[in-house]
Amino acid sequence: MTPRPRVFVARVIPEAGLRPIVEACDARVWEVDAPPPRADLLAAVAGCDGVLTMLTDRVDDAFLDAAGPGLRVVSQMAVGYDNVDVAACTRRGVPVGNTPGVLTDTTADLAFALILAAARRLPEGERLVRGGGWRTWSPTIQLGVDVHGATLGIVGFGRIGQAVARRATGFGMTVLYSSRSRVSRAIETALNATWLPLHEVLARSDFVSLHVDLNPSTRGLINADALRRMKPGAILVNTTRGPVVDGRALFEALRDGVIRAAALDVTDPEPIPMDDPLLTLDNCLIVPHVGSATEATRGRMASMAAANLLAGVRGERLPNVVNPEVYERG
Ligand code: DGY
Repeated sequence: MTPRPRVFVARVIPEAGLRPIVEACDARVWEVDAPPPRADLLAAVAGCDGVLTMLTDRVDDAFLDAAGPGLRVVSQMAVGYDNVDVAACTRRGVPVGNTPGVLTDTTADLAFALILAAARRLPEGERLVRGGGWRTWSPTIQLGVDVHGATLGIVGFGRIGQAVARRATGFGMTVLYSSRSRVSRAIETALNATWLPLHEVLARSDFVSLHVDLNPSTRGLINADALRRMKPGAILVNTTRGPVVDGRALFEALRDGVIRAAALDVTDPEPIPMDDPLLTLDNCLIVPHVGSATEATRGRMASMAAANLLAGVRGERLPNVVNPEVYERG
């Protein structure tokens, strides 16, 4: 009898993904609700045929050395994979899977929720009520800004950026976008979106929502200079990756009124240290990287990650592979 493939699943994932893995493999699951410490991760992957990773697990040469030559797949339960050294995997012929598409609308919903929450200062209002500070209706209490009719700048116009634009049309917003390349005229027309260079998008938008991947060219993209280009009344929303924004520059911009507010689903590092100055600001809303966190979407991500893992350990092509060149080497 051929032995069942050996796999390591780096966190407890929804049943829709876990069940097929446990049924088909000799699976070890990291049961703690925190990423495996590096030494445990490297020990756990030793001799594995496949590993299912989260965005909190670094996959690099040391990881691949620890796993050994039998590793046939790294399956990431996320659409983003900046934690994975894809080139190193490719050099060793290891396909890397991810979970595109299934979290687009859920993440766009969260981006829009952050736009609305920051514009209308919802966290401040909630704190006021719970703190006993709501004394009466007031003509001047907690005034925010309108979302409807405002200009939304979308930086990075892939699947999620476009899904945010679709939501903006319902609010009568003017949509500007910047991206490496322009989308087709048909998409621009359908979303009523206008391409502009980044500096123009920053200068003209009331809300700026970030949707670029994290890579060397986008690390620190929103730095002090970019923040100074934004309108003083503008609100910055980040649901992509924390390092796209320079945290110190953002703190100073929010503190000094260079921009009005920020709403972040992602920080650098994660979790944000409790002594990070951003946490001292009322005009900075922060939630714990929950862009894709709905029951349905996390279930779909888990089952897609399981499908990639199982295909990989069976030597089949991954349904969603980020380095298809591994299959072109003959
Ligand atoms: C992703 O898939 O990259 C998301 O950040 C996870 O929520």
